[in-house]
Amino acid sequence: MFSRLVRPTLVSARNFSTSKQNNFKVAVAGASGGIGQPLSLLLKINPLVTELSLYDIVHTPGVAADLSHIETVGKVKGYNGPENLLEALRNADVIIIPAGVPRKPGMTRDDLFNTNAGIVRDLAKAAAEVAPKALIGIITNPVNSTVPIACEVLKQAGKFDPKRVFGVTSLDIVRANTFIADGKGLNPKDVSIPVIGGHSGVTIIPLISRATPSVSFPEDQLKALTTRIQEAGTEVVKAKAGAGSATLSMAYAGARFANSLLRGLKGESNVIEPAYVVSDVTESEYFSTPLLLGKNGIEKNLGLGKLSDYEQQLLKAAIPELKKNIKAGVDFAKK
Ligand code: NAD
Ligand code: LMR
Repeated sequence: MFSRLVRPTLVSARNFSTSKQNNFKVAVAGASGGIGQPLSLLLKINPLVTELSLYDIVHTPGVAADLSHIETVGKVKGYNGPENLLEALRNADVIIIPAGVPRKPGMTRDDLFNTNAGIVRDLAKAAAEVAPKALIGIITNPVNSTVPIACEVLKQAGKFDPKRVFGVTSLDIVRANTFIADGKGLNPKDVSIPVIGGHSGVTIIPLISRATPSVSFPEDQLKALTTRIQEAGTEVVKAKAGAGSATLSMAYAGARFANSLLRGLKGESNVIEPAYVVSDVTESEYFSTPLLLGKNGIEKNLGLGKLSDYEQQLLKAAIPELKKNIKAGVDFAKK
């Protein structure tokens, strides 16, 4: 996907002049972390990123100094500590948020709520003040709740645009593509699996019936693959044995997501990326589906499409959990 989405842009930006905007300020909040550092590296080599603003409560001078030596056009600036937050986000076109604590073995994503809810609330408040037009991509868990928190905070500030706030679920698609390709002996770059719903356990709904190319599995294998995709985050948390959760694959997925936002902002046509957004395609107020992206964020929600009977059951199991997670976020923000 990196070669599909990032490198072609690199080539075209060097070789052609265009009247379309191709210079954007991207801010990363949580830039010194396990995800933040490799994500910032991938953004530094994206030619659409001409200003890369790195915010964290620790270590950003070092991360920024290091990245600033890379021979690409983007200017890197580090902003350390809350007193520099507004400057870091000011007039950003895109803000990506991987700030907050990750899981340790035995924890659920919801166990992160108490720490991460306040972090996302404060970052969203700052974005409302100095970057009200930014497209905001939230990686911080629990995504099912942190996205509603950010949306409520933006509403309270009178700056909410549902087309501009996204929960980043791209890693679920990246994983599904990889696991299905492995299972069928295909090249992952040729495989595309829609994954809808939310970003935790049963709320992650892979639509293997809609795979490209079309694939089929016996029922037991289909169920095992679905569970593996739903529990892939936990697989990494266990393997890291206390040292955190997915960082490198998330950085890749976050860079893919940010690049899609930028391609949309630039005016490229047919840019499609899934994300967890305000939605009316199910009973859940927030839901991840493939989105057509454009100059104002979401151009069109591409909806659910046709689900198999098995996927209908998965959807039914996801909705109560999503509603509970969303309520927790909304209640927190209204407190
Ligand atoms: P990490 O601990 O390595 O890094 C987090 C960074 O956030 C640290 O540098 C920390 O200083 C910073 N931070 C803490 N409070 C902050 C604040 N108020 N403002 C700015 N920065 C702040 O964690 P990580 O492994 O990078 O994971 C970050 C988050 O991403 C976790 O919540 C994790 O669960 C989540 N995550 C989500 C997905 C997804 O698919 N959406 C995938 C992987 C991880
Ligand atoms: C993931 O899916 O890898 C992330 O949500 C991190 C986690 O806690 O599993």
